Amino acid sequence: MREQLLAAEKVQAIDWHGGALYLLDQRLLPQEQVWLRFDSAAEVAQAIRDMVVRGAPAIGIAAAYGVVLGAQACLAAGGDWRQALEADFQRLAASRPTAVNLFWALQRMRERLQRLKDDQGVLEQLEAEAVGIHASDREANLTMAQLGMELIRKHQGSEQVLMTHCNAGALATGGFGTALGVIRAAHLEGLVERVYVDETRPWLQGARLTAWELAGDGVPVSLNVDAAAAHLMKVKGVSWVIVGADRITANGDVANKIGTYQLAVNAMHHGVRFMVVAPSSTIDMALESGEDIPLEERSGDELRLLGGRPIAADVAVSNPVFDVTPADLVDYIVTEKGVVERPDSEKLAQLMCRKRLH
Ligand code: MRU
Repeated sequence: MREQLLAAEKVQAIDWHGGALYLLDQRLLPQEQVWLRFDSAAEVAQAIRDMVVRGAPAIGIAAAYGVVLGAQACLAAGGDWRQALEADFQRLAASRPTAVNLFWALQRMRERLQRLKDDQGVLEQLEAEAVGIHASDREANLTMAQLGMELIRKHQGSEQVLMTHCNAGALATGGFGTALGVIRAAHLEGLVERVYVDETRPWLQGARLTAWELAGDGVPVSLNVDAAAAHLMKVKGVSWVIVGADRITANGDVANKIGTYQLAVNAMHHGVRFMVVAPSSTIDMALESGEDIPLEERSGDELRLLGGRPIAADVAVSNPVFDVTPADLVDYIVTEKGVVERPDSEKLAQLMCRKRLH
């Protein structure tokens, strides 16, 4: 199936060539497809903060390339380049707090740096590490797509009605997608009747990005307001909610886009299966439970304004952009190392000891 999946891959959001990083500006999609060029770590950090690039694996990959850009500049400047590069690591780490893939990728870059005995070939080594992070995320997506699709086939042989939230597609990853990778693979296998996509207020990742990716693949897709989810589960026969994750803690709690938690509660009530699809780089074994995850709060203007125009009363705004779904509401966590059913600390610890499946 791998070849079939690769042939179905259309959208990419991250490109590295000629010693520069290019990002598809996700703030403008789907109306405009504009690629921006980045030449410094500080610019990449700003792009992550501003959501030019977003989605947990994608911001990790972008940050890894950001380190390469930082190293290019620090080496060219001479002097204590390692100390200068440390400031870039800090800048990149401060860009967004919740997705652990960002810190995981920076740690990989740091370890590669620490393994270097002298200054010979520093740039080549760092570039190889970043390219490797990018390529292995794409590979992980292909493995997860197949594993998740097989779960859907195992439980229900015929066409299913699915629901997803936010964007966990090619745009959010190194390619193909996590939750959308599973949905794409299931569509290729004739297992998808329709996908309901929550618009995902306030940034509209569902309306702007997921609906666009799925429609581009010819997947039957309907867009709905976030508040319609429980009703649609009841009246449209939704059988699976499939989402990505920004951080999964050692006990199986899942941080993902705000609204995921209420989907999981509603899924439990309606007997809908809840699948989380995420590479092992999203699993943070250093945190015991979801209570320890730093959850990003973004500007109130994301709610006060719509298309730049004021729409709300002049009151205080609460804008947490992630929430935590407790492990006991999750049926499956699908990773490139395998599938965990009804996650708990013991099962996640066992999973993390395994090698990637492909
Ligand atoms: O704020 P965003 O758009 O970066 O949030 C993205 C999500 O919540 C995704 O569901 C998650 O990162 C998984 S992406 C494969």
